[in-house]
Amino acid sequence: MLSKKVEKALNKQINAEFWSAYLYLSMASCLDSKGFTGMSSWMRKQFAEEQEHATKLFDYVLDKGGRVLLEPIAKVETEWKDALDVFNATLKHEQKVTSMINDLCALAIAEKDYATESFLHWFVDEQVEEEKNAREIIDVLKLIGKDGYGLYRFDKELAARK
Ligand code: FEO
Repeated sequence: MLSKKVEKALNKQINAEFWSAYLYLSMASCLDSKGFTGMSSWMRKQFAEEQEHATKLFDYVLDKGGRVLLEPIAKVETEWKDALDVFNATLKHEQKVTSMINDLCALAIAEKDYATESFLHWFVDEQVEEEKNAREIIDVLKLIGKDGYGLYRFDKELAARK
């Protein structure tokens, strides 16, 4: 059984994960409009991954006998200057998500809800990966700078994301 506080916080995180999905789909649209079809495809995969995060939390709340009350998804940005701007925003967003997951862990511990704390470890590890992915792409984009051919090649590379 979940405490009301933990149930509410998990519901909030479900909404945040769907918001992340929506954000990345918006980024996919923006990247496609700039001709970066590979990066757009990378973001589409990120969109799918965020929905998996949301449903993982959804299933956990139900498994614990709680209720999921879906809330509206807030508006997301639609325009970014260039690819680097998009991935900088991605890293910043993932850092925010990491801090939300950390707060959730702290709450679970404060509530002596060790099952939820254990469940959240998957998300703690996932956030390391999420930040690393964005950081690596930013590093390459910085190296490439404004070189058109470099950007073209890197875009093709990102299209290969499984
Ligand atoms: Fe679900 Fe990208 O954090």
